[in-house]
Amino acid sequence: NVKCPNVVNPKMSPNIVIGNPDELAKKKAAIRAAGMSSLQVIADFDMTLTKYMVEGRRGQSTHALLSQGSSDYDRKRQELFDFYYPMEISPLIPVEEKTKLMETWWGKSHALLVEGGLNIENIRKSVHKGTVGFREGITDFFEILDGENVPLLIFSAGLADIIEEILRQKLHRAFPNIRVVSNRMNFDTDGNLIGFVGKTIHVLNKNEHALEMAAPLHDEEGHAVASNGNGASFVKGKKNVLLLGDHLGDLGMSDGVVYDNRISVGFLNENVENWLDTYRKAFDIVILNDGPLDYVVELIHELR
Ligand code: TMP
Ligand code: MG
Repeated sequence: NVKCPNVVNPKMSPNIVIGNPDELAKKKAAIRAAGMSSLQVIADFDMTLTKYMVEGRRGQSTHALLSQGSSDYDRKRQELFDFYYPMEISPLIPVEEKTKLMETWWGKSHALLVEGGLNIENIRKSVHKGTVGFREGITDFFEILDGENVPLLIFSAGLADIIEEILRQKLHRAFPNIRVVSNRMNFDTDGNLIGFVGKTIHVLNKNEHALEMAAPLHDEEGHAVASNGNGASFVKGKKNVLLLGDHLGDLGMSDGVVYDNRISVGFLNENVENWLDTYRKAFDIVILNDGPLDYVVELIHELR
């Protein structure tokens, strides 16, 4: 665990870092004055709502945990990962060039999923077997938002169908206030993947107006368990934002929103010594050491 010199409240967990407490207090007061009906929450999925380490192993992203029932195709997608991921995290590639590379990666990876065959059963099994777990406190987090009628958009460059299967398998109930904005699969009537819906979301365009892609959550029989409506109308008129992410790029998730106040929470999962200073400046609140969502739940209580 990293010792943190910046703890403003001695009663607070040493895993919480607040760069500018006065600024945060002002934002909290402004949101409280506007009321909960003004609030929307935008959260990244992988390593933000889910844990970085799961039972001693590195947690898997939605793309990574998917096994499409053909070891050949799983290997081909892994080879793409080995080739493109170092480019994703490279600070040396200019953003325009990197955007093209990421488009190519996502395009090839999704094409392999279609070409190699994938059905809904593969998704269920992959999620069941995958190394993935929600952060502690997730149920309290979802419940307080639901109780207050605060919409939660889960915004991810991963796979919507996997995220929704994880929600179904790991939670005891459905939450009508949640929408998933992510890459969504299109299946034929036999449950075989035939393509993807709409524009691809990759790590560098998570900031565009992708909200239109948010579709209702479906249960296993394909019935909507949440009401219809796209992401944009879902959060319409909500002028205050609580944003949760684990990468600096996740701060762009609210770029399509015209907001009055935004409180951002950053989960700093790796390389803490090198990144803490940058995260402290970029996010209002930084959570270290794969910490739980308790502080975020507490914050929402304080906004009421
Ligand atoms: P995000 O969920 O934080 O928005 O990022 C998605 C991650 O998915 C990104 O870091 C790269 C990863 N990824 C894979 O692991 N395999 C793939 O085939 C693709 C296209 C992406
Ligand atoms: Mg993430």
